[in-house]
Amino acid sequence: MSLSIRPLTPNFVGEVSGIDLTQPVTREQVAAIEAGMDRYAVLVYHDQRFTDEQQKAFSQNFGALEHTAGGNIVKPQEKRLDPYMADVSNLGIDHKPLARDDRKRMFNLGNQLWHSDSSFRAVPAKYSLLSGRITVGKGGQTQFCDMRAAYDALDGATKTEIEDLICEHSLIYSRGLLGFDDLTSEELAMFRPVRQKLVRVHPVTGRKSLYLSSHAGKIPGWPVPEARAFLRDLTEHATQPQFFYSHSWQQYDFVMWDNRTTLHRVTRFDNNQIRDMRRTTIAGDSETVAQLAA
Ligand code: OGA
Ligand code: MN
Repeated sequence: MSLSIRPLTPNFVGEVSGIDLTQPVTREQVAAIEAGMDRYAVLVYHDQRFTDEQQKAFSQNFGALEHTAGGNIVKPQEKRLDPYMADVSNLGIDHKPLARDDRKRMFNLGNQLWHSDSSFRAVPAKYSLLSGRITVGKGGQTQFCDMRAAYDALDGATKTEIEDLICEHSLIYSRGLLGFDDLTSEELAMFRPVRQKLVRVHPVTGRKSLYLSSHAGKIPGWPVPEARAFLRDLTEHATQPQFFYSHSWQQYDFVMWDNRTTLHRVTRFDNNQIRDMRRTTIAGDSETVAQLAA
């Protein structure tokens, strides 16, 4: 059977069949998937029974793997997975759900806010690839919004106003939104804000998109409350139903998305259930805007 992509929504989410991603894939298959990513922005696969090594091997067809350092409060020796696998499960190193008030769990609850992966890095992520190793029956959906369509739907005056705007992104801001602000001085240093353009141009399609994220907390030159209120307004606009898709997980589903053109979040679920989700992330190839000197 050969690879085919069927639209789950007309222009945003495609479902891929006819390929086993645990085995080496051909250049043609990689090209077809990349073309699918450019046409849609989210691709869904089923029944991909990856090991971590297989997931990393497949992911590397799309660029260099992003190292997880600097993206979490979990210390290297407390990590359940290899440093190139982002652990977005609710599990501790003992494979049991973290306690309700565990600091790592509370930090990871930030994934319930609309975000783009690694927008807090100077070179933010290109793709994310998420494997559902153990999924939950209720809740725990991953939801996506199309920032190309959201940009297109802005009025002309807003497009003009935001064209050259820059935002500062940091995990300090996204976690602060949830009232998680007891960060150590090391963590505050590690999460030092970076600058990102608010309007991005896709390198292949040339389409503009809104680069929003819960990590965005300041606009240089603007009063902070005004920036926050504006970013909230834009996010509210960008997450309307016409831009939205929700993925309900089956075990071994695999979803990849383009962080340059999408927002995503996870919905709440029962923390007594095991939800073992493992993400590989493809690093972007450049900054969206030059950083300030340290
Ligand atoms: C992620 C994330 C979504 C989820 O993997 O980047 O935000 O469904 N998690 O756990
Ligand atoms: Mn994420």
